[in-house]
Amino acid sequence: MTYTLVQGAYIVAGLLFILALSGLSKHETARMGNRYGIVGMAIALVVTVIAAIAGTKSAGAVVAEGSGWAGAAFIVPAMAVAAVIGVTLARRVQMTGMPELIAMLHSFVGLAAVLVGWNSSYEGATAYPKIHDVEVFVGVFIGAVTLTGSIVAYLKLSAKIKSAPLSLPAHNAINLGIVGAFVVMTVVYTLVPSSDIATRQAILGLMTLMALFLGWHLVMSIGGGDMPVVVSMLNSYSGWAAAAAGFLLNNDLLIITGALVGSSGAYLSYIMCRAMNRSFISVIAGGFGVEAGTSAGGDTDYGEHREITAQGAAELLEGAHSVIITPGYGMATAQAQHAVAQLTKNLRGKGVNVRFGIHPVAGRLPGHMNVLLAEAKVPYDIVLEMDEINDDFPDTDVVLVIGANDTVNPAAIDEPGSPIAGMPVLHVWEAKDVIVFKRSMATGYAGVQNPLFFKENTQMLFGDAKDRVEDIIKAL
Ligand code: TAP
Repeated sequence: MTYTLVQGAYIVAGLLFILALSGLSKHETARMGNRYGIVGMAIALVVTVIAAIAGTKSAGAVVAEGSGWAGAAFIVPAMAVAAVIGVTLARRVQMTGMPELIAMLHSFVGLAAVLVGWNSSYEGATAYPKIHDVEVFVGVFIGAVTLTGSIVAYLKLSAKIKSAPLSLPAHNAINLGIVGAFVVMTVVYTLVPSSDIATRQAILGLMTLMALFLGWHLVMSIGGGDMPVVVSMLNSYSGWAAAAAGFLLNNDLLIITGALVGSSGAYLSYIMCRAMNRSFISVIAGGFGVEAGTSAGGDTDYGEHREITAQGAAELLEGAHSVIITPGYGMATAQAQHAVAQLTKNLRGKGVNVRFGIHPVAGRLPGHMNVLLAEAKVPYDIVLEMDEINDDFPDTDVVLVIGANDTVNPAAIDEPGSPIAGMPVLHVWEAKDVIVFKRSMATGYAGVQNPLFFKENTQMLFGDAKDRVEDIIKAL
């Protein structure tokens, strides 16, 4: 396979990745976007493996250049095993388990970047040895931060460790100190002669350990409610780690793909920060979660809550002209989306104006609720973003809060000391009546008490969200 052919295929794959991103930005075109991505990735993999086997110069040394069929004997079985693992995991994973899976996959990208960097440091001099040294350092640094950061994110998202933020004394100074030390060590590394292998390996080893610690510390310092930003930030880091590996492997497509993931992830983080009213810069610096002295509202007496039955809820809905449904993570765990879609259809059939209000971080991954509602065939035009619907609550008869908690918590507005203070929320309490579907009085993901449950116009409908929605459909 000639070099030109390989580069041509890489350009096609790169274009398909750009089309994939553009397709994924809208509900209607998301499936098509996914297909573009699959085809692009298939081209990228096949061409890279064939080029490596054929020993095509500069096509990316996935297998050592010119290693021929001996190299294929390693890479093809490895890819087959990885493909089986990937397909099995993807088929098994529940929608609610997606964020942890994504976090885990990001850690693999980080690990790959660290290994590629270390390998490249042994390979030694190229035409531009100092630039190569910097590439090694940057690749290993970003890779190591991504590796441990993603593992901690995985552990927190899967509730294997507590999601409460760790607050080491002077945590900002620790982070800044490590970044400063990284810059100094990079310069020193480039100045040590390449013949002094022991010193170079010692500096690289120390830097790797520091970067592993930084990744762990950055994500450990983040509180539960702020995890969405961390997930998208690690997504971005994994892209930059891949791009760094692309420079080291001299693979243009890996650089392009890494840059696409890195920049789209950074933009997603920026959107998430805006949605959660957090500063983008402080997110990148880490540790922007709960500050000392914040209160999760656990000790505040909000009064008594009131309860309603499915029959009572059906009666309220029968008399309503306008209804807004605000789904959250509980709708996903209960898999209630089909029942919710059926209820919507029934109510619309009776002439009720039903719309959905979607908070940008509802659920556990960006677009979580939109995906579930699309799966249940809820029409896109009645699914509105938080900003589009927030002014309409005062003119709404009934709001159905289905398994949402933090995203409808008025403490974000009323309690400046709350860990979620400042985060924009859906103003559901401004409606005439609010029905909250959940199983208990437990808190949401951020572990913050919700004063909404105790308001005069709020009634709790306890039980599994799917069962309760089906009960209402029967009663209607
Ligand atoms: P949450 O605050 O997580 O609350 C979900 C509620 O659903 C809980 O109060 C729970 O109460 C209820 N629930 C669970 N299973 C249920 C079932 N089977 N039937 C009925 N109710 C059920 O939900 P949210 O409002 O969607 O907020 C999302 C939170 O996750 C935010 O804090 C956000 O920052 C965080 N987060 C989001 C993301 C992204 S990117 N979206 C990523 C990571 C973290 P019971 O246990 O009493 O039933």
